[in-house]
Amino acid sequence: MNKLRVLLLGGGGREHAIAWKISQSELLDHLFVAPGNGGTAEVATNLDFSETDFNALKSALLEHKIDLVVVGPEAPLVMGVREFIEEDSAINHVKIVGPGMVGAQLEGSKSFSKRFMQRHSIPTARFGEFDAEQLNDAIRFLDGFNPPYVLKADGLAAGKGVLIIDDKQEAARALHEMLLDGKFGKASSKVVIEEFLEGIELSVFVLTDGSDYVILPEAKDYKRIGEGDKGLNTGGMGSISPVPFAQGSFMEKVVERIIEPTINGLAQEGIPYNGFVFIGLMNVNGEPQVIEYNCRMGDPETESVIPRIKSDLLELLWNCGNSTLAGSEIVIDQRTAACVMVVSGGYPENYEKNKLITGLDSVKESFVFQAGTKLVGSEIRSSGGRVIAITSLAENLDAALSMTYKRLSNIDFENMYFRKDIGFDLKKD
Ligand code: AMP
Ligand code: GLY
Repeated sequence: MNKLRVLLLGGGGREHAIAWKISQSELLDHLFVAPGNGGTAEVATNLDFSETDFNALKSALLEHKIDLVVVGPEAPLVMGVREFIEEDSAINHVKIVGPGMVGAQLEGSKSFSKRFMQRHSIPTARFGEFDAEQLNDAIRFLDGFNPPYVLKADGLAAGKGVLIIDDKQEAARALHEMLLDGKFGKASSKVVIEEFLEGIELSVFVLTDGSDYVILPEAKDYKRIGEGDKGLNTGGMGSISPVPFAQGSFMEKVVERIIEPTINGLAQEGIPYNGFVFIGLMNVNGEPQVIEYNCRMGDPETESVIPRIKSDLLELLWNCGNSTLAGSEIVIDQRTAACVMVVSGGYPENYEKNKLITGLDSVKESFVFQAGTKLVGSEIRSSGGRVIAITSLAENLDAALSMTYKRLSNIDFENMYFRKDIGFDLKKD
């Protein structure tokens, strides 16, 4: 087989981690990343176009003779990047990791994903869905639940479209704002109301070609900005893999009740799906329930998942894109990965960019995955809210965390912030 020329779409910490792993493959000829960041520039060639610029993508596929496209974020998938490539005879020889537009609706529409779960008896919170004309029905529907009330904009809302509200009147007001005042733009022209699930969350990742699949290491993400899981939601402040309770009978239930019916359900409904399925789960007293699907890997979960994969990731991705995953196995490092995200002060609200980052070279043994960074001359500067993820692998959670925090003490940029309690809830007393 000729060695592969690969283009990865995206430019965050997730893409740096994936690019770092692909770059080690013996099957690789050359790796490109668009748009990439300061970190991907170290392991691949960055191409200067946005992940949703399909015309630039077509030119790059031809110019660089790409064999495989791996899609990092959801936006290009929901916008139909797979169809764009498949329907153009000049580029339809290129294989893609990432589902088509219908499959991507598992993430792109809460209503689509809830109905899918309902059709396939996949455990999930009880729900109802309402459009602008049904505001009064939506408000009455709240009566069927105990607080807190979970309100979800149907469409993509940059991770901000879920509201969890204690007070019923406030929830009614929020429904009005979502359905009638366009609180989340078009994304909230339809709203899903669902039962609040109490438990511990975890993220499970599957790579599938639509009939066969491999299960990647699971991870736990820390979404809130403040310690003790307080404050505003962010894209994710750190992650841990493995999750101690995600084994034995719990994982058997996840496979039997969730993963198998999801993959089989897609196939039965004639929805081709080559790509990642990210299943956000709640462990409710030992019973897994699905909170959400995403059609991509998580960020920052990827930064703790990828270092635990010992197998050749490019081989798995190539098999995924070619629908030849049958028989593939994945070898996983049994050690624990602890990832802490360093963010710009003020994030997730207003923050400054373009800060000089120092001390990255001093990071040995741990992994440095750059997220919101850019290379300016020979300097690495901040270019986003989430700036750098540091991950360490060690025999247990405490050791991995202390390695990560030790490495972090060498890194500096003005107003940097990170949570000092990542993994707190998973530690043994
Ligand atoms: P989603 O975008 O659907 O993942 O929701 C964002 C976050 O809201 C999740 O990661 C959970 O922390 C929380 N969440 C969503 N749905 C529920 C639910 N039914 N019960 C409890 N928490 C939820
Ligand atoms: N870390 C959560 C996500 O990627 O959606």
